[in-house]
Amino acid sequence: MPKTQDYFAGKTIIITGAASGIGRATALIFAREGANVICADVNEAGARKTADDVNGAGSQALALKVDVTSRAEVNDMVSRALAAFGSVQFLFNSAGAAIRRAKFLEIDDALMEKTFALNVNGTLYAMQAVLPHMLANKHGVIVNMASMAHRRGGPGSSVHYAAAKGAVVSMTMGVAREYATQGIRALSISPGPIKTPFQDAAGSSPELVKRFMDDIPMGRFGAPEEIGELVLFMCSDACSFMTADTVYVNGGGGWR
Ligand SMILES: NC(=O)c1ccc[n+]([C@@H]2O[C@H](COP(=O)([O-])OP(=O)(O)OC[C@H]3O[C@@H](n4cnc5c(N)ncnc54)[C@H](O)[C@@H]3O)[C@@H](O)[C@H]2O)c1
Repeated sequence: MPKTQDYFAGKTIIITGAASGIGRATALIFAREGANVICADVNEAGARKTADDVNGAGSQALALKVDVTSRAEVNDMVSRALAAFGSVQFLFNSAGAAIRRAKFLEIDDALMEKTFALNVNGTLYAMQAVLPHMLANKHGVIVNMASMAHRRGGPGSSVHYAAAKGAVVSMTMGVAREYATQGIRALSISPGPIKTPFQDAAGSSPELVKRFMDDIPMGRFGAPEEIGELVLFMCSDACSFMTADTVYVNGGGGWR
């Protein structure tokens, strides 16, 4: 929670991947706090649904169809956010996926390129698009989605994804430290398994899902809201000395 009451009222956040899962949950949490929310996703109907729900909660939303692997579409997303709300204080890059599961020797060029285009380039483009504006305002917070996978390496199923999320952690640290004296903070979040359509999208087998579950001392997957509340804290004035790092959120698991 913020230190200052109504801290988020009238401020604006851009959320990629806002149609589903963690991005959607975070959009609704920022709506609860009175923030304007840009709901960006390649899934246009989903983005629109989240935006409708943000409006229904009494905040203002703009739904945008954006493929984050396109630099032009991401630049356009930031321009349209600024045209709609005048300024942008926060960026949450939640769009991401493991694409599909594969053993290490089965990772081909197409899988590697797709995984990096979405998770790494998508995050890079959005940070580069919004930073000039944040620097001009001498204020901005960027939160990027990494994953516990970057610590585990993704053996047997997702080295491609773990490597991409490792790049997200490194990029976040670099941006945070490059602009640390200019009012910019950047953080990443490394969750363990969260209950969203993510595992289905990656085609995770029931055995793999069980292996994840067995490794969590709390005995359950996280809820997307349990990440969204952390994004809110990270963006708030209660989190003013925290930058560059990744924060692990995993019910105590994920270290084997
Ligand atoms: N769910 C988990 O277990 C888990 C764990 C660790 C990290 N993560 C990360 O959290 C983030 C959110 O995942 P989630 O669990 O909410 O999954 P999700 O599948 O529910 O949501 C991902 C969203 O990203 C959107 N998206 C996909 N490709 C896109 C593109 N090219 N451009 C714009 N949007 C695109 C999808 O349409 C979807 O709405 C991802 O970066 C994921 O890697 C998830």
